[in-house]
Amino acid sequence: MDRENERVGTHKAPARQLQTLPAELLWDGLVLKDDIFNHTGAVLLLPKGETITKSRLEKLMGFYGDDRNIMVYEETYLEIMTDEHTSPEARQKLMEKHIGYTHLQQNIGDLFERRDYDAWLNRDKLAPLIREVASKLENFDPVMILSCINFPRPMDEGLQRHSLNVALLNGMQAEWLELPPDDVNTLVLAGLLHDIGKTMIPEEILNAPRRLTAEETAVMRAHPVYSDQLLAGKFDDNVRLAARHHHEKLNGKGYPDGVAGDELGFSARITAISDIYDAMVSARSYKGARLPLDVFDMLYQEEFDGLDRSLVITFLKNMRARYTNRQVMMSDGRRGEILYIPLNDADHPIIGRGGEARQTDEAWYCKEILPAAEGDYVTGR
Ligand SMILES: [Fe+2]
Repeated sequence: MDRENERVGTHKAPARQLQTLPAELLWDGLVLKDDIFNHTGAVLLLPKGETITKSRLEKLMGFYGDDRNIMVYEETYLEIMTDEHTSPEARQKLMEKHIGYTHLQQNIGDLFERRDYDAWLNRDKLAPLIREVASKLENFDPVMILSCINFPRPMDEGLQRHSLNVALLNGMQAEWLELPPDDVNTLVLAGLLHDIGKTMIPEEILNAPRRLTAEETAVMRAHPVYSDQLLAGKFDDNVRLAARHHHEKLNGKGYPDGVAGDELGFSARITAISDIYDAMVSARSYKGARLPLDVFDMLYQEEFDGLDRSLVITFLKNMRARYTNRQVMMSDGRRGEILYIPLNDADHPIIGRGGEARQTDEAWYCKEILPAAEGDYVTGR
């Protein structure tokens, strides 16, 4: 619908796109650099130059039903999303909802709770979910998807988020390798199901907020075998072996089978990289989350042994290309732009600000990679 015609009153808005934002994200004292509208975008609530007060906004919104959203122009949207008044949690929630990550995560959570595996654990039943994951990869900027992946998660969402993230990361890698669509889907499916055996591990071990004992570790390490058992006879070898071998290493030091070299299949090699990346950027009970740039560096420096080096390099080169030119929040509380990410020193990118370029160091570093304006989210392919 053409929003120009939808508007009423004397206000004549320029033809710029409006974005929906929860009104609760505005704060007292915010000086509007641009107009804000009601939830349909039809009515001007406050013109630019005005200072927001919660009570005034409440009163204005009260006239237009109980919808708690407002509409603002893209620039204002980005400004509010990335302002220090907006908590990273609120920002994240908005973004996850926007790209449909929340919806996917809930679907996966619902499935993984079901113990009637025969009813849903097959390629046909999972096809719509795989299509939905693949459509995110086609329609959204990878950095937008990655910011959902990178965000710390509550313990009870661990398995569903991890499974979705590994599915998305597998799909990204498959596309970067220019594999045919069927192979992309197979790797997405493999990522989604690689840890399905964890649904058979007791909750108190799976979500233990501490390091596991030797005995518990042995139970935990059986999960690839359980995954394999659940998938056997229902999925092809690419999916099954990605599940069984995603903790194996090329040097034979992995588990559960200790396979090495050529015995380790392609789908398992890809899934191992996605699995490690997601584990490192997510918050766990006994360690903090890491920034993507730090994890890129760890991958380059081979801190995780037994990965396929050429696949790691493809992964890093593509990640580097997508994070270049992104806005970042620096440790001094001001914004900058990533100008260059050295492949062999990814955690010390060159940052541009006010026409100057400077490399980060221990005293001046990236704190957060900021979301792009909504218009930039869509790849438009
Ligand atoms: Fe696993």
